[in-house]
Amino acid sequence: MPSPYSSGKKRSQGKRLTVPNIQAAKGGEPLVSLTAYTAPIARLVDAASDIIIIGDSMAMVLYGLPDTLGLSLFTMIGHAKSVVEATGHALCVFDMPFGSYEEGQEQAFRNAAKVIKKTGVQAIKLEGGEAMAPTIKHLVANGIPVMAHIGLRPQALNTMGGFKVQGKGKASHTQVLKDAQAVDKAGAFSTVIEGVPAELAAEITAAVSNPTIGIGASVHCDGQVLVTEDMLGLSPWVPKFVKTYANLSGEIEKAVKAYAGDVRARRFPGPDQTYGKNKKV
Ligand code: KIV
Repeated sequence: MPSPYSSGKKRSQGKRLTVPNIQAAKGGEPLVSLTAYTAPIARLVDAASDIIIIGDSMAMVLYGLPDTLGLSLFTMIGHAKSVVEATGHALCVFDMPFGSYEEGQEQAFRNAAKVIKKTGVQAIKLEGGEAMAPTIKHLVANGIPVMAHIGLRPQALNTMGGFKVQGKGKASHTQVLKDAQAVDKAGAFSTVIEGVPAELAAEITAAVSNPTIGIGASVHCDGQVLVTEDMLGLSPWVPKFVKTYANLSGEIEKAVKAYAGDVRARRFPGPDQTYGKNKKV
């Protein structure tokens, strides 16, 4: 029977990492995760990644918005479909946008099921700890693998009073630890820990049974994730926890300048890029 996804080739090859593969990596070689929102970037990061997250960070990175809150499920579904189609190795995780799951278990299941049917991702991610545990339990019980996201939760920007490191004080430390334990117990197959002190990340990673994926959460996690555009030097500004591995903005600016110079000097198009009556095409 033909796949409901346009090519289906990646799925039928059976080489893509699965949720149980990720769970089995707890405590072993660190897991590698990156974000992707488009087919060209997804193709480039797939082979080296264990997990690709179609993150709602696309609101800021791709759409130039000030935060992630304005992004719609509809917009993200289009991006996720292209990422799944372009990849065949990494587990693809869809980051549920603000407002698409918080009303309760029914809304969360309805939207997560829609995402899986329309995009072919294998799992969803949602932000929240203790308070979100019943929803996670419901989704997992009904066939939807969930990656949790605790610590600094960008969708809680307004209640947190900004993008602030969490777990520094005693009460906050205790709450983030409780959050990690609650989502683990509820069945989250993995947990992203964002923006917490190294000591807390280490304590959480030792206390939970699922693999933790850190972003601004030290080397003590079971894996790491970064926004791909940040680590490639394509973002105008990056947080302290980002290491930039390339300066693609500089490369792109150089290439664009060279092109503009060629066009203005009539060096482009040259003979190699030109059709002629007597040339073999
Ligand atoms: O939105 C996002 O890209 C994320 C990952 C960085 C974890 O939440």
